[in-house]
Amino acid sequence: MHDLFGDSVAYFEKIYESATKAARFYGFERIETPVLEDTRVFTRGVGASTDIVEKEMYNLKTKGGNSLSLRPEGTAPVMRAYVEHDMYTRPQPVKFFYFGPFFRHERPQSGRYRQFWQFGMETIGKGGPAVDAQIVSAIYGMLSDLGVKNIVVEVNSMGDSKCRGLYKGVLKKYLKKASLCADCKKRVTKNPLRVLDCKQCVEIKKEAPQIVDYICKECREDFKKTLECLDEAGVPYDLNPFIVRGLDYYTGMVYEFFAGEKEPLALGGGGRYDGLCELFGGGDVPATGAALGVERVVLAMQKAGVKIEEKNPQVLLAHLGDLAEKKSLRLLEQFRKANLPVYNCIGKESLKGQLSRANKLSVPWTLIIGREEAIEDNVVIRDMRDGSQEKVEMKDAVKEVKKRLKG
Ligand code: HAM
Repeated sequence: MHDLFGDSVAYFEKIYESATKAARFYGFERIETPVLEDTRVFTRGVGASTDIVEKEMYNLKTKGGNSLSLRPEGTAPVMRAYVEHDMYTRPQPVKFFYFGPFFRHERPQSGRYRQFWQFGMETIGKGGPAVDAQIVSAIYGMLSDLGVKNIVVEVNSMGDSKCRGLYKGVLKKYLKKASLCADCKKRVTKNPLRVLDCKQCVEIKKEAPQIVDYICKECREDFKKTLECLDEAGVPYDLNPFIVRGLDYYTGMVYEFFAGEKEPLALGGGGRYDGLCELFGGGDVPATGAALGVERVVLAMQKAGVKIEEKNPQVLLAHLGDLAEKKSLRLLEQFRKANLPVYNCIGKESLKGQLSRANKLSVPWTLIIGREEAIEDNVVIRDMRDGSQEKVEMKDAVKEVKKRLKG
């Protein structure tokens, strides 16, 4: 788990800004679910035999004996909220986005944390190829706008529960003969698809049967239409028959976003999850969504050489002595109300230091309250470029600064 400050916050804020802007543009409204949920939200929603639920969840027991978990992902909680608040009574689909911390007990490595942030988008209540494609397109566009380079979207179809059942049978047969790690030996009977996510058993994929060869005509047609929608939206993609995702709720199209040429980094993923609502006691409700790992997007932006430019203020407020510092507080309020940004020096002592800060920030205008000005309720406005200065009444400071900024 890591602290966020300095540079990383600047990247986070930039991503938050772009994510919110993109989500709202496409008509998504914000939802933030609690970080703690009843454990069953995930055992039921994500799947009891997934790595996320079996190995990576932080679980706790309350004094009353309830089992709670720190949320490892956002889709199951959003669906829980949809059912709990009867959101099927609203005009459909309902479209939500979220931006917050998630928790998985994984081995930490570059881009992998135990507390990490996700930006997610979910569309619930109406489905179809264009609905799937809109989310892929929104995320692709947002990553491009953020300056991420070499974005690759890898897509696959998982079929519906019927055709996936057929595929699972064929895959099981194949895996029983393959040489597998200890975990995967257990997975073969419990959840054979999860063997395809295993980082150790990569070799078995070469000869493994591919799900696309087993999906039914309707699922194939639906997948084809979604790819046509992606073409229309200008999103390039690669077919990857082994994208099966690490969560059990997917049906139909699934995808992952990667960035970078050498050792591509998985930035996010998603897909359709038409059966999830039913697992929470809701009806047969189509749904689709995706989430990006925010730390991974930061890494991808840094790899692409994206710098976050800080907006320097145009004005710095300096003071000399305690009374002047106190008067600074009043002046600052005047600027805040006028919505005019000012770099403040509250807590700093030496005037020399404050002026050298103004030079470092290349601030064109500095306001100085000296000892005399503090007594007289005046302030000096100094043009930092030629050193010329003028004394004005404190009550007129905003007006005078505005005049100069316009000039
Ligand atoms: P996921 O693939 O498990 O999908 O996670 C999405 C992204 O979260 C990953 O691609 C990765 O960038 C980031 N991520 C996951 N674990 C970590 C970690 N330990 N440290 C840093 N980043 C991490 C989901 O969570 C689904 N709920 C996505 C979804 C939304 N599907 C439908 N709707």
